[in-house]
Amino acid sequence: MTARGIHHLGVAVEDLDAALVTYELLFGAQVEHSATVEDQGVRAASLRIGAGRVELLEPLEEDTPVGRFLAKRGPGMHHVAYEVSDLGATLAELTRAGADLIDEHPRAGLFGLEVAFIHPDSVHGVLSEVVSSG
Ligand code: CO
Repeated sequence: MTARGIHHLGVAVEDLDAALVTYELLFGAQVEHSATVEDQGVRAASLRIGAGRVELLEPLEEDTPVGRFLAKRGPGMHHVAYEVSDLGATLAELTRAGADLIDEHPRAGLFGLEVAFIHPDSVHGVLSEVVSSG
């Protein structure tokens, strides 16, 4: 599998509104999407910064994946998302390559994306996401 590039960096934050101000002020970020996604337990925003993209994630509650991450590791880098053309084929290739998939099948991610996550133990400690770009 060869990724097309990095689709976004996911960052866990305690206060989404404060983080938005920081990214706008320091890096000229522009909000692309923002939403509260109850079933994923987050308030989230996708920011464009030039050709790049950062996804900010604020947990809705402590007992959510991002809430548990914050409690354990504190705010900061949460995941790296790679853009691929065919998510189903990518997951089959990743499985053949021995990667430990958190999602064996594509699922609905934030902002209408089809995504799947790879366990950090398979990627030297980095939670990794693959995103279909169609
Ligand atoms: Co992401």
